[in-house]
Amino acid sequence: MILSIESSCDDSAIAITEIATNKLLFHKKISQELEHSVYGGVVPELAARLHAEALPKILQECEPYFKDLKAVAVTSTPGLAVTLVEGVTMAKAIAVALNIPLIGVNHLVGHIYSLFIEKETVFPLTVLLVSGGHTQVMEVKSLTDIKTVAKSMDDSFGESFDKSAKMMGLGYPGGPLIQELAKDGDRLSHNFTVPLHQSPLIAFSYSGLKNAVRLAVEDAGEDKSQYKDIAASFEHIATKHITMKLKKYFKTVRPKTFAIVGGASANLYLRSQIEELLKPHNATLLLSELKYCSDNAAMIGRVGVEMYKQKMFSALDSLDISPKSNI
Ligand code: KG4
Ligand code: ZN
Repeated sequence: MILSIESSCDDSAIAITEIATNKLLFHKKISQELEHSVYGGVVPELAARLHAEALPKILQECEPYFKDLKAVAVTSTPGLAVTLVEGVTMAKAIAVALNIPLIGVNHLVGHIYSLFIEKETVFPLTVLLVSGGHTQVMEVKSLTDIKTVAKSMDDSFGESFDKSAKMMGLGYPGGPLIQELAKDGDRLSHNFTVPLHQSPLIAFSYSGLKNAVRLAVEDAGEDKSQYKDIAASFEHIATKHITMKLKKYFKTVRPKTFAIVGGASANLYLRSQIEELLKPHNATLLLSELKYCSDNAAMIGRVGVEMYKQKMFSALDSLDISPKSNI
């Protein structure tokens, strides 16, 4: 069995995965959303303190599995430095105490493997990762053959939902809140510009759209009845930006199996628009189970199993955290 730990942002999670079968034997996550919602976003120092409280509590529940552990896997990149350290320090302590190998997992690879929790892998894949920290398209051939073919030049899809929600005083995380508000809104009420629509680049940008939402919220003033229309128009354009760029990309690289992963892959409007886009290509769409879209330790454990099989271990003194991913 492999014990896996996730603490890259605001979720403390630990899982136990059976190596031979990929079976998830244990998974527990303590989310800090409530604590950060007062601030309209994640406060790194508070997040670190909450991980220090939550992780040992979850670990206690894993005690019955300790004797069967063959390795410990932990998210080591990318994420908030102060929160990554919490998980990595705990993983190193477990590796020393139980004399088992240590595996450093890239969180983005974790999101890709959220597709394969308790399942066999399917490759090759074109993957759209949409989370709070990332918006990127990757061509994935295997665990070690991952090429990023498009990414955001500034903010991410998920973060633009968080910031838009903050501007409207809705709380955190903004994704589900904006999605809910947008349901009853008019998607065409605000004529926001689709980012980079005239650029030949296959890349993403959300800073301009965020600013346009800020202006619309300011224009609405005290009239909060306009918020649902702003939310709907924002969600429409944020999504159209992705589908327009993917359409362009598919002209040169036809999708066969396409996947959407990451916390914001839970967005129903994005899912439906991408489904439409894939229809003429007869491509298969893969999605993670809703409970595994957002950060969790089961996906880190699933990668851990693959890395264990390939003996991709880290020495205690060489596993360091890195806020930026090299993928
Ligand atoms: O993958 P994740 O849990 O954490 C990171 O690795 O960043 O993603 C969290 C992000 C947040 O920005 C959150 O607002 C967004 O995913 N999100 C959504 C939805 N659910 C979560 N964004 C849009 N629509 C949703 N339904
Ligand atoms: Zn994530």
